[in-house]
Amino acid sequence: MAAKQQIIDALIEAYNKELETILNYLSCSIDIDGVRAEAIKNALAGDIQGEIEHARQIGARVRQLGGTVLGSMALEMEQSYLQPPADTTDVVTVIRGVLAAEEEAIRTYNEIIKLCEGNDYVTQDLAIRILGDEEGHRQQFDGYLKEYTKK
Ligand SMILES: [Fe+2]
Ligand SMILES: [Fe+2]
Repeated sequence: MAAKQQIIDALIEAYNKELETILNYLSCSIDIDGVRAEAIKNALAGDIQGEIEHARQIGARVRQLGGTVLGSMALEMEQSYLQPPADTTDVVTVIRGVLAAEEEAIRTYNEIIKLCEGNDYVTQDLAIRILGDEEGHRQQFDGYLKEYTKK
């Protein structure tokens, strides 16, 4: 059974990931251009609000458990796969990057759900709800990828 500190650490890691995702969705939504970019820019701009809400809810739960969240100097950045593309019309690379970020989020929340089993049902409930959002994002961008890579 997971100790409380283990759950706090996992939540802080998820908080870090949400913040990096927000940064890269913002940068990509600003940097890409062209007719094909418009729908993706709008989708990313909308998703940023949802990801901020995830970070806020996770942060609040960390505090309830007695932990504290990170400032920018303590964050770790690793989304090399989701940087604004050198070719600003390369929308497909951005879509693939978003899908990788959503897969990573889904993996993270599934882990937290398992960690909480039999131990912390409030955190587990939060992780399940966020997992549902991330699976929705994956479905949305899977659809974009299908359309944008159609011959
Ligand atoms: Fe999220
Ligand atoms: Fe997401």
